[in-house]
Amino acid sequence: MAVAEIGTDLNRAIDLLKLDNLVAIPTETVYGLAANGLNPLAVSQIFQVKNRPHFDPLILHIGKIEQLDDLAQNIPQKAKILAQQFWPGPITLVLEKKDVVPSIVTSGLPTVGIRMPNHPMTLELLQRISFPLAAPSANPFKYVSPTTAQHVFNQLGFQIPYILDGGNCKIGIESTIVAFHNDDVHVLRLGGLSLEKIESVIGPVIVSTDIHTTIQAPGQLLQHYAPSCKLVPIDESTDKMNLDGLILLSKNSEKQRKINLKIKRFYLSEAGDILEASSNLFSVLRQLDDLDLKTVGFEWLEENGLGRAINDRLKRASN
Ligand code: TXA
Ligand code: MG
Repeated sequence: MAVAEIGTDLNRAIDLLKLDNLVAIPTETVYGLAANGLNPLAVSQIFQVKNRPHFDPLILHIGKIEQLDDLAQNIPQKAKILAQQFWPGPITLVLEKKDVVPSIVTSGLPTVGIRMPNHPMTLELLQRISFPLAAPSANPFKYVSPTTAQHVFNQLGFQIPYILDGGNCKIGIESTIVAFHNDDVHVLRLGGLSLEKIESVIGPVIVSTDIHTTIQAPGQLLQHYAPSCKLVPIDESTDKMNLDGLILLSKNSEKQRKINLKIKRFYLSEAGDILEASSNLFSVLRQLDDLDLKTVGFEWLEENGLGRAINDRLKRASN
């Protein structure tokens, strides 16, 4: 296949998708690798290109809330509330699937993950086609998710025809995934929508993100989102650690730690803005590999809001 074109031509993207080709699409979280989610042959190419195991199900993306009823059934009240409140936005709902959803999308599970992404270009695209888009993050399996069109190009450029360029992803971290059991809400993946925001509308949720919980997202491996560079959490003995670089939240957090090491710093947000930090995280992880660094230290962020999801990605990237 020829090398991918990067552009902003929605008609081109739509034509390709209608012909069952893959197109990389921007979302507010990360770039997705999209195909017609109702066509098993189109979807199977996603698994090939990503080298993704078939036990890891895909998310379906929709452009209108009414599409929910075409794809899912017995939708719990709490799921409806979350969709009303936060879509379009960075939350994926795991719901009982209808028969139209091919089993290759759900890895044979009776449930399907659905979300409406909050990116103007992709929302328009979704509203102009008659089918949902199956789209995992547009990266090779286990690697860091892409947050720019160039990231997608660098890794998948020779395998897909078109990358829709919607700029830098504003949130930069994947969606929060929630599932429903009886009256309980389980969070299967921490992500772009904080627990605090979710709990503010439906009350307490159960966090089921580690591999020991019985209810989990099959693709959430302990080692995930990982650059080739080795990542290690820093502690009080940082100055004695053998590091090639340091990932810090901000200039201020560096000052508080009184670090003397003369090595390269990567600030997630110089001013300490947590949204900026999450939007920069994956670009910073990619830079480590571009610079061919071997071992880089990082600090844990405060365990609240988006900090919780950033810590989750740092943990998986460092395993
Ligand atoms: O922000 C996002 O969610 C991005 C953008 C492109 O929308 N997508 C994304 O997709 O991160 P992916 O495939 O990289 O991660 C989807 C996760 C996987 O860990 C998968 O196991 C889980 O969703 N998942 C999908 N369907 C599921 C289901 N029926 N039950 C449990 N987990 C599911
Ligand atoms: Mg992914």
